[in-house]
Amino acid sequence: MLGRVNHIALAVPDLAEAAERYRSMLGASVTEPDNLPEHGVRVVFVTLENTKVELLEPLGEDSPIAAFLAKNPSGGMHHICYEVADILAARDSLVAAGGRVLGNGKPKIGAHGKPVLFLHPKDFFGTLIELEQV
Ligand code: CO
Repeated sequence: MLGRVNHIALAVPDLAEAAERYRSMLGASVTEPDNLPEHGVRVVFVTLENTKVELLEPLGEDSPIAAFLAKNPSGGMHHICYEVADILAARDSLVAAGGRVLGNGKPKIGAHGKPVLFLHPKDFFGTLIELEQV
């Protein structure tokens, strides 16, 4: 059911500094920041030939990445996003196999305007997984 890696997300304490570091030290192409209040994050994307890296900083009071940054103050890998063709079918087959979806189980609209879901990291060896319908 998994397609390509859509992006790898890194939580960072200072998004402007991280974006500038990727530009100046790695020569990367980095998008302008985008606020995603529904997800509690502000993001930029590092555009690569085969995938993207999403840099995230907390936005608002109860950002889901605030606790992660409290534990990892200098930042770290936050999640990996895999593409799926049909997110509801992917969710139903995961749940039927005993997997857990975070939140209310309904897809939200993600950073690319497409439906996304997050899977419980304890089911996947400590890594938070995002599924994005493409
Ligand atoms: Co993501």
